[in-house]
Amino acid sequence: MSKKEITFIMVKPDAVSDGHSGAILKRIEEEGFKIKGVKMIRISLEQAKKFYEVHSARPFYGELTEFMASGPSVVACLERENAVAHWRKVIGATDPAEAEANTIRKLYARSKGENAVHGSDSPENGVIETAFFFSGSELV
Ligand code: RTP
Ligand code: MG
Repeated sequence: MSKKEITFIMVKPDAVSDGHSGAILKRIEEEGFKIKGVKMIRISLEQAKKFYEVHSARPFYGELTEFMASGPSVVACLERENAVAHWRKVIGATDPAEAEANTIRKLYARSKGENAVHGSDSPENGVIETAFFFSGSELV
């Protein structure tokens, strides 16, 4: 029996602006995730820089952080068995042109940079990233 795990996810500003938040939250429930916390926030440039610090040497860092601060995002903590791996399967490849049919990025992303959603890349980062955006009292 595999253990329940949490992951941290975001509906990025492109997908919020394009009106896909509701469809993505519906998909989250259909995929069997329990929503432990969810809120709409406008991420500051400072928060975006810290959150994506691992990519600070990459050529797309400036564009990425400015995009993440360009409008509201939905941030959420989700729980499920194999939450990290399952969410990354549901969202598909970073570049929507390479994402499989019916994945969230294939359905809703604009481009490789403005790609609709985020997902943690490990269970450890699921915990760290959740704590970056949520206090304990905001999680059920
Ligand atoms: P994320 O962290 O947002 O869930 O995405 P990911 O793991 O699939 O991709 P990652 O390599 O961690 O890249 C983080 C985000 O940076 C933007 N990006 N732009 N223009 C480009 O070549 C490029 N490459 C990456 C995307 O928004 C990507 O999700
Ligand atoms: Mg990543």
